Amino acid sequence: MSNTLILNADIERGTINRHIYGHFAEHLGRCIYDGIYVGENSDIPNVRGIRTDIVDALKAINIPNLRWPGGCFADEYHWMDGIGKKENRPTMINTHWGGVTENNHFGTHEFLDLCEQLETEPYICGNVGSGTVQEMQQWVEYIALDGISPMADLRRQNGRSEPWHIKYWGVGNENWGCGGNMRPEYYADEYRRYQTYVRNFGDNPIYKVACGANREDYRWTEVLMANTKRGDRHLMHGLSLHCYTNYRESATNFNETDWFNVLQKSLFMDELITKHRAIMDQYDPENRVGIILDEWGTWYNAEPGTNPRFLYQQNSLRDALVAALTFHIFHNHNKRLHMANIAQTINVLQAMILTENEKMILTPTYHVFDMFKVHHDATQLSLSLQTENYTHQGASIPQLSASASRNSDGHIHLSICNTDPNTSTTLTCDLRGIHATSVTGQVLTADTITAHNTFDNPNTLYPANFNGATLNGTALSIDLPAKSVIVLKIT
Ligand code: AHR
Repeated sequence: MSNTLILNADIERGTINRHIYGHFAEHLGRCIYDGIYVGENSDIPNVRGIRTDIVDALKAINIPNLRWPGGCFADEYHWMDGIGKKENRPTMINTHWGGVTENNHFGTHEFLDLCEQLETEPYICGNVGSGTVQEMQQWVEYIALDGISPMADLRRQNGRSEPWHIKYWGVGNENWGCGGNMRPEYYADEYRRYQTYVRNFGDNPIYKVACGANREDYRWTEVLMANTKRGDRHLMHGLSLHCYTNYRESATNFNETDWFNVLQKSLFMDELITKHRAIMDQYDPENRVGIILDEWGTWYNAEPGTNPRFLYQQNSLRDALVAALTFHIFHNHNKRLHMANIAQTINVLQAMILTENEKMILTPTYHVFDMFKVHHDATQLSLSLQTENYTHQGASIPQLSASASRNSDGHIHLSICNTDPNTSTTLTCDLRGIHATSVTGQVLTADTITAHNTFDNPNTLYPANFNGATLNGTALSIDLPAKSVIVLKIT
């Protein structure tokens, strides 16, 4: 069998929501402090304490949303500790993530300032595990009410006269685990109660997200879907889902078996979403409740010499492949999948950016987010791919994965991954429903599977111009290097 692809540019498969390219930043390790927030008095260039280099880098990939403050931290977080004069803010112990002292200097104002600097949609996760309904009610009022009220007045006293716009609101995080060890039946009732007080103020309708399942806990989805309706009305707009590619080995010191295992594990995402979707389809055939996959990514051992609870890991070409393969899966579920958030944006797990004091490096995962931003809000196009397998020690995964979309300018983008670290190949494409005249592109690859960027060599992996595509009428031939991610623009 050879590698062939038919692209049907005249058959559309729905919109690829830009929010599936979303992000997550938790008070964990060096994600917020150091990574995002260095304080106004830092020598590192900043605006009101927020690193300028980070903001510039994230804006460059059109970051569509940012989830905060956790994660497990969210269900220990009391938002009122993080407002007002910094010197008066109480400290707390971040028991979940290393027992370090949290000074609460990065709170609601700082987070929403960050989102405004990034021009991104905030997604706040409220505290159900150890918080109260009143706390959550007041937080929403503090942020979104444009009138006279105790919370709106308090916000003004703290320097913000206008309300902020807040669309996405999570009602708890991992309430089956770190968020309270609840049974789904109990959480469903708690969800009903808490969400009642997450009010829509003015022209700020809130998209409410219920805590969803851990990986293949399909019963959780079933119970939530069955028990969170009032009459015909769903009380949630989104149901979250968490799935990590767990591989507790080194992020950079690995062999081909590890490469294969991680890519194979990452493909489980397709089965997972398919099965949760099937349950949701039964209770919500009109597709009103979206899947919010608000934590995903690779999870390796922390880098040697770092605090294991800070979850700081390097990021290699392998992670770039995981990101690209996962996005292709996400595209195929665009009907139900409303949002996804990679864990986490900076210095934690499968990060976009790593920092060391004033230095910053962009990871291979960042480059995939950058190359794939052409798919944001684009129309997915039908394609049919016949691929050889990449076989290692008797097990196989597809060698190629591909996805295509058309953006609002009418340009078509085709992204392709070659998972095989040893074999380059030619993909022969038949372009239907389009009269293409030019093809340009970018490629991300490296000489070794473990290649990664370091503070000494920050550009080992960087997207390069791709010259391996040849167009001849409706025939497009693409020479794909081994272990590569490619995005082509076809016009
Ligand atoms: O992203 C790290 C942690 O993973 C989050 O805090 C938690 O929600 C999940 O278990």
